[in-house]
Amino acid sequence: MSDRVVLAFSGGLDTSVAIGWIKEQTGAEVIAMAVDVGQGGEDMDVIRERALACGAVESEVADAREEFANEYCLPALKADALYMDRYPVVSALSRPVIVKHLVAAAHKHNANIVAHGCTGKGNDQVRFEVGIRNLAPNLRCIAPVRDLALTRDKAIDFAEREGLPIDVTSKSPYSIDQNVWGRAVETGFLEDIWNGPTEEIYSYTKNPAEPRDADEVIITFDKGQPVKIDGQDVSMLQAIEIMNQRAGAQGVGRLDLVEDRLVGIKSREVYESPGPVALITAHMELVNVTVERELRRFSRGVSQRWTELTYDGLWFSPLHKALSGFLDDVNASVSGDIRMTLHGGKAVVTGRRSDASLYDYGLATYDSGDTFDQSLAQGFIELWGLPSRLAYARDNRIHG
Ligand code: ARG
Repeated sequence: MSDRVVLAFSGGLDTSVAIGWIKEQTGAEVIAMAVDVGQGGEDMDVIRERALACGAVESEVADAREEFANEYCLPALKADALYMDRYPVVSALSRPVIVKHLVAAAHKHNANIVAHGCTGKGNDQVRFEVGIRNLAPNLRCIAPVRDLALTRDKAIDFAEREGLPIDVTSKSPYSIDQNVWGRAVETGFLEDIWNGPTEEIYSYTKNPAEPRDADEVIITFDKGQPVKIDGQDVSMLQAIEIMNQRAGAQGVGRLDLVEDRLVGIKSREVYESPGPVALITAHMELVNVTVERELRRFSRGVSQRWTELTYDGLWFSPLHKALSGFLDDVNASVSGDIRMTLHGGKAVVTGRRSDASLYDYGLATYDSGDTFDQSLAQGFIELWGLPSRLAYARDNRIHG
């Protein structure tokens, strides 16, 4: 039986050419699978038709937007997931949901191979292949760019020679990956890390430096999930989309950073994630109000580990699953309202209100109505400092 390949299809030049290229190089039949994770842009039906026109024997589109929002973006929000304290793991988050759809398509179409358009230098090849082989150990993986020498020049030649229905001149000088959680832009002149990003590379956000009126929003959370915006019920997907619009209009969520890839390279990436940055800012503050001190402190470390596992392609690992359960627990009390101002590229919290609040006015106030017994502080300080006082005195005695 000849090989059958399910290809993760984006509709762009590389994966369009990959259909015919795989066939030519290996003799395999190619089934195209496009997954909608809220990347916007072209109509998914146009993308499906293009795969057939490029020689796919079957072409499928899966609308995974709700699934992506509920099962991937929501856990990332509960974790306040920011890799290297800044990057909301946009691309890393979409790979496991795409993997699930690729594996399902492979089973449905009796394929024995899954292919993707990644290069051999990035994180995404790892995320795809570790995920696929976790879920379906019998499937093989190939990456035409990495394994079948499909360079950019060859891709353009091939598309022209075969008359593929794709405009090779429209290929962006950047490598872009986007979904509802954000947008990543790399390569081209950004590879010189002294070059500042130019305005035209952004599409989810307006220039934060332009003058405009501020926007004020109230986000209501229930157990870590945003459930209302300005009092209107929203699904997780709607919450992200609405906040992408409103925070994006104020230039919130632009990032420019050199990051540590899993494969050991440092790379420069420009991101825009307006909704997620605003939502995470709001969520973090509600955590401050509603989560007990020791649990909050400890959970920061858990979040960081969760984020690194996500970034490193280990979404389907047992540790990731266990830490997700822990973070669900942490979020059990994270309910209430956050008011924030969106303006000039910043999302700034200005108010919080929660039935689950641990903020006690009586304990906190410096005005009348103080219920805190200040006389207890002296003894506490005495005992709290005791171990380090003893050690300091000992060191002075011995070393002078
Ligand atoms: N560096 C990011 C990550 O590994 C984004 C990669 C997305 N690809 C791109 N073409 N910019 O998660």
